[in-house]
Amino acid sequence: MNRPLTILGLESSCDDTAAAVVRVGPEGAEVLSSLVYGQTDLHETFGGVVPEIAARAHAEKLDTSVAAALKAADMDFADLDAVAVTAGPGLIGGVLSGVMCAKGLAAGTGLPLIGVNHLAGHALTPRLTDAVDYPYLVLLVSGGHCQFLIVHGAEDFTRLGGTIDDAPGEAFDKVARLLGLPQPGGPAVESEAAKGDAERFKLPRPLLDRPGCDMSFSGLKTAVLRARDAIVSEKGGLMRQDRADLCAGFQAAVVEVLAEKTRRAITEYLYENPAHPVIAVAGGVAANVAIRAELETLSKQLSTKFIAPPLRLCTDNAAMIAYAGAEFFALGRRDGMELVAWPRWPLDNRSPAMLGSGKKGAKA
Ligand code: KG4
Ligand code: ZN
Repeated sequence: MNRPLTILGLESSCDDTAAAVVRVGPEGAEVLSSLVYGQTDLHETFGGVVPEIAARAHAEKLDTSVAAALKAADMDFADLDAVAVTAGPGLIGGVLSGVMCAKGLAAGTGLPLIGVNHLAGHALTPRLTDAVDYPYLVLLVSGGHCQFLIVHGAEDFTRLGGTIDDAPGEAFDKVARLLGLPQPGGPAVESEAAKGDAERFKLPRPLLDRPGCDMSFSGLKTAVLRARDAIVSEKGGLMRQDRADLCAGFQAAVVEVLAEKTRRAITEYLYENPAHPVIAVAGGVAANVAIRAELETLSKQLSTKFIAPPLRLCTDNAAMIAYAGAEFFALGRRDGMELVAWPRWPLDNRSPAMLGSGKKGAKA
């Protein structure tokens, strides 16, 4: 990038309304502001994200989020080069809210509009935080997604594998619900797991017996349900220690599956790209200390550099959308008023579609 670019980013594809201003120059990228307004309280009583409620909340919050992000960056529209917005994949009402808001801003200010794939935002985050060169391998692991991607360039990805059903974050959330723990389930299950015995319940390690990097987490969640029901019918209820042991067993199974599949993905990636030994993680599940630690150990064993962006840039945010927008802008891409919101938008069109459906709709 020859001259610095200052980009406003908007994100509203699931249950976070986010706006950010990022500057990208020859020296690297700088997040000037990044605000995220979660909707957990709005969806709490429903036990999951309600798309219509999410879309309405985004529509209400987006314009004030933009104003707040500009103010926090001490900027005006005149200081910007473009507006970047998540145009998919995600819950369509939320994506549409963001795209319509960004179109309004572009029409009103004359700024160029750039539609960004949410997954590209996550996958390019290691460049925002650590300025890594292409290519690199990324494990995108969140509430809605789980896939290994080789990032060859801002618009060039190869998927090595991914989940064929639930994403791990979704499995953490469902297990939390089964055990009466609050949402989002990941942090709640993780803290219970710290008090539990991971060996007590023998839970499955799905798809480890099959070659390749595809994963499955749905059967693991069902195994937790069965184990819970067996305890309830035996003892008449679930004791605190039972719950902690179930959480520990579940988390250990997720760690083991992710670690083994990551080992295979790194090996496959390094075979083609031995000169770029870098693996990064992105997505909310990357916040899990046990998962992070295991992946870091594995990277060391395989002499691969490990990049784990700070948590606020792992979970959904608009800084990653603004950053990806800057890369696309530098490549000359501009979207006009015909920009479309996509519920499903795979990064790698060469690989066959993944099966299943997650928190954000069909898996990309
Ligand atoms: O990336 P993210 O903010 O949104 C999606 O794109 O889904 O990820 C949210 C997901 C939730 O499912 C949440 O339970 C999970 O990340 N998560 C965790 C942890 N913190 C958040 N999962 C496991 N352990 C954690 N500490
Ligand atoms: Zn995400």
